Amino acid sequence: MRDSKYHSVKPIIDPAKPQLYIETYGCQMNVNDSEVVLSVMQDAGYSLCEMMEDADVIFVNTCSIRENAEQRVFGRLDLFRLEKQRRPDVVVGVLGCMAERLKEELFDHPAVDIVAGPDSYRDLPRLVEGAKGGRGQINVWLSHDETYADISPVRMDRNGVSAFISIMRGCNNVCSYCIVPFVRGAERSREPQSIINEAESLIANGYKEINLIGQNVDSYLWLDPSNTSRQINFARLLEKVALIDRKVRVRFSTSHPKDMSNSVLYTMAMYDNICKHIHLPVQSGSNAMLEKMNRKYTRESYLERINRIREILPGCSVTTDVIAGFCGETEQDHLETLSLLEEVQFDGAFMFQYSERPGTKAARRFADDVPPDVKKARLNQIIALQNDISLRNNQYSVGREYQVLVEGSSKRSDEQLMGRTSQNKTCVFPAAGYKAGDLVRVKVTSCTSATLICEAIS
Ligand code: 5AD
Ligand code: SF4
Repeated sequence: MRDSKYHSVKPIIDPAKPQLYIETYGCQMNVNDSEVVLSVMQDAGYSLCEMMEDADVIFVNTCSIRENAEQRVFGRLDLFRLEKQRRPDVVVGVLGCMAERLKEELFDHPAVDIVAGPDSYRDLPRLVEGAKGGRGQINVWLSHDETYADISPVRMDRNGVSAFISIMRGCNNVCSYCIVPFVRGAERSREPQSIINEAESLIANGYKEINLIGQNVDSYLWLDPSNTSRQINFARLLEKVALIDRKVRVRFSTSHPKDMSNSVLYTMAMYDNICKHIHLPVQSGSNAMLEKMNRKYTRESYLERINRIREILPGCSVTTDVIAGFCGETEQDHLETLSLLEEVQFDGAFMFQYSERPGTKAARRFADDVPPDVKKARLNQIIALQNDISLRNNQYSVGREYQVLVEGSSKRSDEQLMGRTSQNKTCVFPAAGYKAGDLVRVKVTSCTSATLICEAIS
C-alpha cells in the first residue's frame, strides 16, 4: 500500500507532460471516482489540463441514472468528435456508469476510443496506450472487491476546504427503478484504516470538512479478515473519523430509511463536529408505490425514523429525494407524496420525474404508464410545495446565529462569501476579511428558499 499520509492531494500541473482533460457528470461518487482516475493517470505520467483543446486524452465520467443524464453526455461526445476531426490523435474515453450500461454499443459513436466501467480505472493507462494504436479498447469487468483503497485521489475541487471520501462501492439494494446495482455492481466496504489515512492526509493538506460517501452508508460493514468477530459498522467508522480532529467537520451520505440505525443518530449527537444533516431519500409517500419500488419500508416506518431523528437530534436538518410518476402511480398515490412532504417539512429535496431504465425490474415488469404531461404536472406540484416548505424552514432561521464553514466566493460576487452551516444550509455574507476555510459565526438577516443571507458577527 502506498503511504497516503503525506501524498500530495493537489493536481500536479506540468505542460511538458501529456495532457488529460476530465469532465464529470452524476453524483458525488462520480466526482470522487474522477479523482481516483486522475491519480492513476498522474502516476502514468499525465498532467491535468483545464481546456479540452489542450488535451491529448479526453475522459468523460458519466451517469446513467435518468435518460436525460445520458443525453447530455451524447451531446458532449458530438463536441469531442469535432475536436478529434481537428486533431485525430486525441484519445476519447467514456468512463463510469454509461460505459458499464452500454458497453460496446458506445463504439457506435465515432468519438469513442475507450469504454471503461467504474471498476476498471487501474487499467486506464493500458487502455489509453492500446487506443493510440487506433483500436477501440474496452474494460467493463465488475469486481467484487475493488475499492481503490490504496489509491490517494487527486483533488480537482477548487476550494481545498471540503472533500469526499468513498467508504464503499456498489449497491445491494434492488430498488426496482434503479440502474445503479447494474452499473456499479455488488456492494463492498472499504478497509477502515485506508479511510482514516485518507482523512488524515486531507486534514494535513488543510481540508476542514470530510464527506463520507457511499450509495448506502448505513450498510457499511468491515469484518477484520484475521478475526471476523471484530466488526466495524458505519456508526463506529463515523466516530473514528470524527475523532481524528475535533475541529474538522464530518458529513455523510446517503442514508437508507430501512437501514439507518439509532446508533448512527447517537454517534451524531455525541460529536459536535459531525454535521447535523441527514439525506434520507423517501421516493414516495404511498405504500403501494414504496412496495412496487422495492424500498422495504413503509410510509409509517419512514415517519418513525424521522421522529427518532428529531428526538435524538433536535435541530438536525433532513433532506430527501422524490420520484414523481412511477409506474401505476394514481392521483391518490401522488397526493400521499404531497401529504408526506407536508408532514415531514423537509429542509430540501431533489425531485425527479420517473425515467425508465432498460434492464431494471420496473422496466421488465411494470408499464411506464403515467403520461409525460401528468408526470410533469405532478413533479411541478411537488417542487412548488417543497419550495414553500424550504422557504418557511429558512424563514425560521432569520435572526438566528450559525457557524459557517467558508468554501469560497459566492456565485454572484467576489465580495460575498459562500459557506454552509452544520445543517448544510447555504449561507452568503459580505467577505470582510474572511477567506475559504474559516469558520465564521453569522447571523441570518433574510433568506430565499435556497439561501440564508447573513452577516458575520465575529
Ligand atoms: N428515474 C427517476 N429518478 C431516479 N432516481 C433513481 N433512479 C431513477 C429513475 N429511474 C432518483 C432517486 C434517487 C436519486 C439519486 O435519483 O430519487 O434517490
Ligand atoms: Fe452516480 Fe448512479 Fe449516476 Fe452512476 S448512475 S453516476 S452511481 S447517480
